[in-house]
Amino acid sequence: MAVIDLTHLTGAALQTPVELLVFTVFGDPTKDSLFKATDAVLGGALADSAKAELFEGKSGQSVTIHTHGKLPAKRVAVLGIGARGEFATSTMRDVAAQAIQAGNRAGATSVGFVLPALGANREAMLVQFIAEGIHLGTYKFNRYFTGEDAKREPSVKSFGVVTDLKGKKPTVAQTRAFGAAVTRGTVIAGAVNQARDLVNEPADVITPTALGKIAESLAKKHKDTVTATVLTPKQCQELGMGMFLAVGQGSDREVRFIHLTYTPAKKPKKRLCLIGKGVTFDSGGYSLKTSVGMEDMKVDMAGAASVISAMDAIATLGSDYEVHAVAACCENLVSGRAYKLGDVLHSMDGTTVEINNTDAEGRLTLGDAITYARTKIEPDEMFDFATLTGACMVALGPYTAGVMSDHEALVKGWLAAATATGEDMWRLPLLPRLREQLKSSVADMRNTGDRFGGAITAGLFLKTFAKDTPWVHVDIAGPASVSTARPSQPKGGTGFAVATMIEYATRR
Ligand code: BES
Ligand code: MN
Ligand code: ZN
Repeated sequence: MAVIDLTHLTGAALQTPVELLVFTVFGDPTKDSLFKATDAVLGGALADSAKAELFEGKSGQSVTIHTHGKLPAKRVAVLGIGARGEFATSTMRDVAAQAIQAGNRAGATSVGFVLPALGANREAMLVQFIAEGIHLGTYKFNRYFTGEDAKREPSVKSFGVVTDLKGKKPTVAQTRAFGAAVTRGTVIAGAVNQARDLVNEPADVITPTALGKIAESLAKKHKDTVTATVLTPKQCQELGMGMFLAVGQGSDREVRFIHLTYTPAKKPKKRLCLIGKGVTFDSGGYSLKTSVGMEDMKVDMAGAASVISAMDAIATLGSDYEVHAVAACCENLVSGRAYKLGDVLHSMDGTTVEINNTDAEGRLTLGDAITYARTKIEPDEMFDFATLTGACMVALGPYTAGVMSDHEALVKGWLAAATATGEDMWRLPLLPRLREQLKSSVADMRNTGDRFGGAITAGLFLKTFAKDTPWVHVDIAGPASVSTARPSQPKGGTGFAVATMIEYATRR
């Protein structure tokens, strides 16, 4: 991540000594006192520009003006953020991203951002989301471009958050709260961006063994609190992971099963397990995808990328819980050794599974990962994150994860963390009647149901292995990667669910 100095500026907003001053308005700018004060200093030019550009302070609108020496700032940008009553705190990520992007477009080295007045109790969260937004909004996956333009460092080096203390100095507590919020936001954004990198890298770079090495280096980085175990195919064989190994057997690249453990210094309050789907490339296997269908299938390890990256941040920030991250990593390819339709697999818990579609591979790898978590880790709570079904995208669209669980309290707690974080998640029912779709005439069950309720039958398949351990399934097939950008989220890998995992594991 680019180094950006995030500071607290406590002088009068209009006198902020920066190259670009940014402030926000809730709707109609002519009702905003800072807008009016700025406009007065600029002799009415700001209101004129706003009128000419049809700026009404709606969310996403902006107007920028040169100050011609009438203010310390060379330019002023006003961002619309919609109605005050509708402003969700997490929206601040996108607003801060817009502010720093405006600074970089203008070639400014310093930006001052006037914190909107939303009440003192929301300030720490707003500052955290600003820190997240400036790092998420300047994220670029540009390592494969060879031209100068794509590699150019952004101009903004310092980003000041302005809260006018009317001549008073900030108290020690205020300074500490500001610093803590900046640190927390920066760590979270670092983890999200790391997950984005892992998803955006080609499948030929992020192989199962590469993910194993990344897990090991993470343990080295946090050597006092994190340990890594990376299992080879032989060790997975000994554990009886027949479903996971079958998916990986068509590839020349060996599978790796990753298990990271974070242990807090104090006696942990509970044990959490985060499980990520780690299919580094999904061709569909013999139930082969079309070329268009597999174009983006390097995304299929996004769950693993997210749980590994979240662990990094959880270890940095510290948690009251013992936290485990698990990922069964392999490639789903075709070859003379690949698994076939009609094969009957023996899962780690003994369940036999008839394969009627080799493209429904994620649930096979996850099924054994869930059994490993349930029997070897014995967590109080477990969550899985998987780019599991196109059906989930059909149900909820491309930006929302499908959440399934039969544990009411656990799923409520999870969704509350998602809401606080501003990640879109929506619950789908684990309808028991749809289990009939998974009946097999030769084995305990088959791996694929029919077209209707595809996200749910995948969830029901996983439930078989979760048994009575409190468990939540999060299908991230849509939001793990996006083709439409927004300010804090460029196209490509998003690092979806990382922020919610960190929120869930580190907030009391
Ligand atoms: N990895 C895919 C799901 C996916 C699709 C993720 C699009 C991201 C974007 C998964 O392994 C898959 O192929 N699912 C099948 C299941 C079907 C065969 C029951 C699907 O959704 O078509
Ligand atoms: Mn598949
Ligand atoms: Zn897949």
